[in-house]
Amino acid sequence: MINWKIRKDGFDYNKIAELGNRFLIGNGYMGVRGTLEEFEKEQLVAVNLAGIYDQVGDSWREPLNAPNGFFGYLEIDGKPYRLPEEEPKSHSVELDYRHGIFKRETVFKTGRGEVTLVCERFVSMEQIHVGAMRFTIRANFHADINLITGIDSDVWDINGPHYKKVSMDEESMLNITATSEEKEYQVSVVADEKTDFPCEKKLYQERMKSLRIVSFITDIDREYCVEKFFAVYTSKDTKDCYKAAKEAVSRALNQGYEAMLSEQKESWEKLWEDAEVLIDGDDRSMEALNYSEYHLMSIAPRHAESMSIAARGLSGQTYKGAVFWDTEMFMLDFFLMTNPAVAKTLMRYRIDTLDGAKKKAKEYGYQGAFYAWESQEGGFDACSDYNVTDVFTKRPMRTFFRDKQVHISAAVVYGICRYVDFTKDDSILIEGGAETIIECGKFYYDLLQQKVGSEKYEIHDVIGPDEYHERVNNNGYTNRMAKFTFQAAVELIKKAKSEPERFLKNMDQAEMEQLEKAFQDAYEKIYIPMPNEQRIIPQFDGYFDLEDTTVEEVRSRLLSPKEYWGGAYGVASHTQIIKQADVVTWLSLFPQDVTENTLLANWKYYEPRTEHGSSLSACMYAMLACRCNMPEKAFPLFLKSASADLQGGGKEWAGLVYIGGTHPAAAGGAYMVALRGFAGLRFENHQVTVKPNLPAHWKGMKFRVCYENEKYEIEISQEQVSVQKIRSLS
Ligand code: BGC
Repeated sequence: MINWKIRKDGFDYNKIAELGNRFLIGNGYMGVRGTLEEFEKEQLVAVNLAGIYDQVGDSWREPLNAPNGFFGYLEIDGKPYRLPEEEPKSHSVELDYRHGIFKRETVFKTGRGEVTLVCERFVSMEQIHVGAMRFTIRANFHADINLITGIDSDVWDINGPHYKKVSMDEESMLNITATSEEKEYQVSVVADEKTDFPCEKKLYQERMKSLRIVSFITDIDREYCVEKFFAVYTSKDTKDCYKAAKEAVSRALNQGYEAMLSEQKESWEKLWEDAEVLIDGDDRSMEALNYSEYHLMSIAPRHAESMSIAARGLSGQTYKGAVFWDTEMFMLDFFLMTNPAVAKTLMRYRIDTLDGAKKKAKEYGYQGAFYAWESQEGGFDACSDYNVTDVFTKRPMRTFFRDKQVHISAAVVYGICRYVDFTKDDSILIEGGAETIIECGKFYYDLLQQKVGSEKYEIHDVIGPDEYHERVNNNGYTNRMAKFTFQAAVELIKKAKSEPERFLKNMDQAEMEQLEKAFQDAYEKIYIPMPNEQRIIPQFDGYFDLEDTTVEEVRSRLLSPKEYWGGAYGVASHTQIIKQADVVTWLSLFPQDVTENTLLANWKYYEPRTEHGSSLSACMYAMLACRCNMPEKAFPLFLKSASADLQGGGKEWAGLVYIGGTHPAAAGGAYMVALRGFAGLRFENHQVTVKPNLPAHWKGMKFRVCYENEKYEIEISQEQVSVQKIRSLS
């Protein structure tokens, strides 16, 4: 049985950042951190908006946090009762992750008695601009209550403040319209509440807040409910965002909290129909996995045609709210298997940012498309040349993620191909996907180098997934992904030649022939590092010459726990210790490249040399462990991935830069391991098959997947395995 609720009893100020992530609610349009209603920016409150960015001065551009429409607190007998200032008699927070509903319950003790405050809230899946909340107040004496409810525009920013102008209208509804610094986006938040008992209401404004006091005196032990709704619209959504927000709140008031709550539950139930994964024999794993899926569904851009997901989801501005290879390589499978329409939206974002990628390639003197390492609106690369701050000197360190992590373009190609392969919907190629593949092919072609007298093409001066070793030659993963890109481009050109009226219509015949020949040649001759006598593939040229030591030893050399392990002087740079799966990522994507023994030998070699300093690492090791028939070795790595946000405790700092937040790539990785690794799900020749390789204590699994426009239900038990087509999608 799944316990669909997570709960934390008691109040601990030091846990505020962690719980903000763990209890996050979201609907793809906005994410609201699991902070308390009375909290302000110091406690990292955020209503983080998807796909809208702004820059202040020379600081990093980052997504906007909207004014907080869930703001509110209690005054009892004239005195404010707010955490953390007031110690509660009891306190708990709870998240119903089946339905995206957050609840807090706090009992305050006053000189006259006890007052219980319960706030339940959610952001609507159906009406994505709207947040709904119900305060329930009960006292065991005649308490003089002021419920202060409002909108707080003094929002948490990492590189802000982003709002240069904040205005509030003298209206009956609470409202704030804020204008952003750089792009002058308008963000309007309107809120209003509904009461069904006698009370006095007064509107007022205070320090960037639009507030209302709802005053009443309680009967003993009677429950008083106040329903509150807010709506957020930005000028990216509509011209008159203030009007749209007012209308949305009016509709919500009419609908009422209970009706909206039922609607919320229904929407989530519908999503779970295709996403829930049942595991017989291991409730802990089942809960962690479904909780991971909750996060992915909370941040999926179901409302957009073309949008992607930030590396930290909608949990705030960390990592600049930017899109990394995380989407294609770690999250995409989940959406392909549960909601292919979202997968298409994710891939359209890459197609729509092709211009940005071409611009970036040009900037570095390359042909084709070099995608942004940290992609924002229009494919703008938010990654700076100095992306880490040195802990000791406090100076920015020159990093090379932006210029050298060239494997990003191949991730885009991989994502597009996987989408087409999985759905057989090639319209995405016609809509620009084909051009994207060709442009990425051109980019890698331009990167190729040939040593005098050598037949082979090499790629020099790159950073692979393991970011601790910068500017290396022939990173196996990168070269293999470039090879994949050449292959995809050749296949595409062949397809275009046979269906010229559909694909690459604007490319003339001569160019097509020339590119096909070039890409085919590159595909055949690109150098792919080979295993040595011990069957180990060097991660890059010269890797084996580096000091062979242990993660513990390298860790013991740190002078500060926040020190960056990579870069020129990093403790790992001159050793074989790596940040995350690199060769292992390659082998888990393309296991057919080498023999079974080589797969195993590399897993065994690299695993102890991996810090797993990125939440993307464990799942790739788990995938390969499953491939090598070692589900027991895969299991703890799977659980680590699936629990990344449930347990917290991940890395919060890279040098002096805060990188905390949720970890959707780990969530997606856990899903891949469970379904493709343990269940052994394969999609080949228009067929879904399973070859289970479950951890010993798992007795069975049950889940649904989408494939080629059909939906399948898969059941694995100790006795039998069944794959049933249950319905066509369309
Ligand atoms: C990892 C990258 C990843 C990024 C965002 C970094 O720490 O090394 O591979 O894309 O985080 O999740």
